[in-house]
Amino acid sequence: MSFSRSVKIAPSILAADFANFGAECRAVEAEGADWVHIDVMDGHFVPNITFGPAMCAALRPHIKGVMDVHLMVAPVDLYLDAFAKAGANILTVHLESGPHIHRSLQAIRALGCKVGLAINPGTGIEAVPSLLDDIDLICVMTVNPGFGGQKLIPAMMDKVRALRAMVGDRPIHIEIDGGVTEGNAAALVTAGADVLVAGSSIFKGGSVTNPAPYGTNIRALRSAANGG
Ligand code: DX5
Ligand code: ZN
Repeated sequence: MSFSRSVKIAPSILAADFANFGAECRAVEAEGADWVHIDVMDGHFVPNITFGPAMCAALRPHIKGVMDVHLMVAPVDLYLDAFAKAGANILTVHLESGPHIHRSLQAIRALGCKVGLAINPGTGIEAVPSLLDDIDLICVMTVNPGFGGQKLIPAMMDKVRALRAMVGDRPIHIEIDGGVTEGNAAALVTAGADVLVAGSSIFKGGSVTNPAPYGTNIRALRSAANGG
């Protein structure tokens, strides 16, 4: 995974057909997705339950590119090894997941995965400068995590700008997660984002038997993100 700040589109399979995940991953990649985003929810840190490491391992052969695993799990440290073994390229943990975030970030690095730090809408970013040497990606939650299909919280734009300024020339991706649409993609990229996660706006209108709309949606999002 070489670093580039060009826009990357990462469909979240939270909006995919739950009876057909392998085919959905292959379909979005064939239709132009750059990364595949997997939302792991524990029913405790967030009020919803989704997938575990066995599911990620089962999906690995169906994803040619980057498997971007977002862990909405607390405590998280005891699961990092299993998700790394499942083949995650990026493991993202929440700043709010426990009192020792730095330890979690170091553990991910030691497992050989790229290190992501996710930040909830209600959390400040004053801890970020002391973590910049330990991360490859910041995931800005632009909705409260737990569910797809929510509206992006406009106040998060200022947070993205502030994080982009903090990151400076460092090779750290800024990923946006929640409520990304064709309508806000350009503003997000202008504010400093380079990875756009999108569930509902990519999977809408398509299915495993009719994946062409995924391609239309991905191209529309990319074109909007790049200024239209
Ligand atoms: C929210 C998840 C997101 C979500 C995005 O907890 O982390 O990845 O699935 O879905 P949309 O694009 O529908 O907001
Ligand atoms: Zn996510």
